[in-house]
Amino acid sequence: MKLLFAFLLSCTVYLQAAVTPVPPSRFRELPELSAIPFERLLTIDNYVGVSLGDLKALSILIQDSKAKNCLELGTFLGTGTTALFYGAGVNLTCVDHWKGNQNDPFMQSTTRQYDFFEICSANINQYNHDNRIALVESDTVQASHLFPDHSFDLIFIDADHTYEGVLADLKAWYSKVRPGGIICGHDCEARPKNFPKYNFSPEALKNVDCDFALGIHVGVIKAVDEFFNGAAQLFAERALFVNGTREHSSIWYYRIPE
Ligand SMILES: C[S@@+](CC[C@H](N)C(=O)[O-])C[C@H]1O[C@@H](n2cnc3c(N)ncnc32)[C@H](O)[C@@H]1O
Repeated sequence: MKLLFAFLLSCTVYLQAAVTPVPPSRFRELPELSAIPFERLLTIDNYVGVSLGDLKALSILIQDSKAKNCLELGTFLGTGTTALFYGAGVNLTCVDHWKGNQNDPFMQSTTRQYDFFEICSANINQYNHDNRIALVESDTVQASHLFPDHSFDLIFIDADHTYEGVLADLKAWYSKVRPGGIICGHDCEARPKNFPKYNFSPEALKNVDCDFALGIHVGVIKAVDEFFNGAAQLFAERALFVNGTREHSSIWYYRIPE
């Protein structure tokens, strides 16, 4: 009975998934995104993977580090961070296997229905007018072997969100950033030591193999905290404003020593 119920539930999700234009948002309030034709970009089930605050945080990191060559791990449909990088005027390499996150039920049900790579390419073609974006279809760790050390000014990590996945990406890609450059990523809502302050359950720390559980990405939080020994910075701990409105971001970052 339980199996039948689980099967029917997954069918419901599968049947309901629809490709529609990206829903209206305040993204174009950022100068980098003012020319992106969001109304012509397609997404699945209204998916928007980042917040206005996240895009503002990324914009600050790109500007502060004067980045020119950037790499993003995890592009999905090219409707979020990819557009921000493009609008910021940098060269961007996008690495994704376009199979969706292994442990994300939404991505796993919709990957059977739609070709993520096809939708992403069509979206990026809508704004990548001077070919500053290159797509690399690969597992993220495997792709790291394609690039010499110090190849990038800034690397943004937003692929596998499990503890093992984030740690593997950090180990594989850290040396690919030039000294003085930035390594950063998405979905780090807090530090483990501050869980009580944010009212996150200590139980949540056990969900390291989940993409997202109990309101946070524990795999990301734990891997970032351990890899940088607490020295990574969190936008979740900074005040962030867009046009006078306070925004929130879960972007973390670390400047590579010179
Ligand atoms: C959360 S989405 C990225 C969202 C995107 N940054 C945005 O702003 O919309 C994560 C992406 O990482 C990709 N991914 C997950 N694990 C991966 C891996 N091991 N290798 C390559 N791509 C992976 C998935 O296919 C998915 O497209």
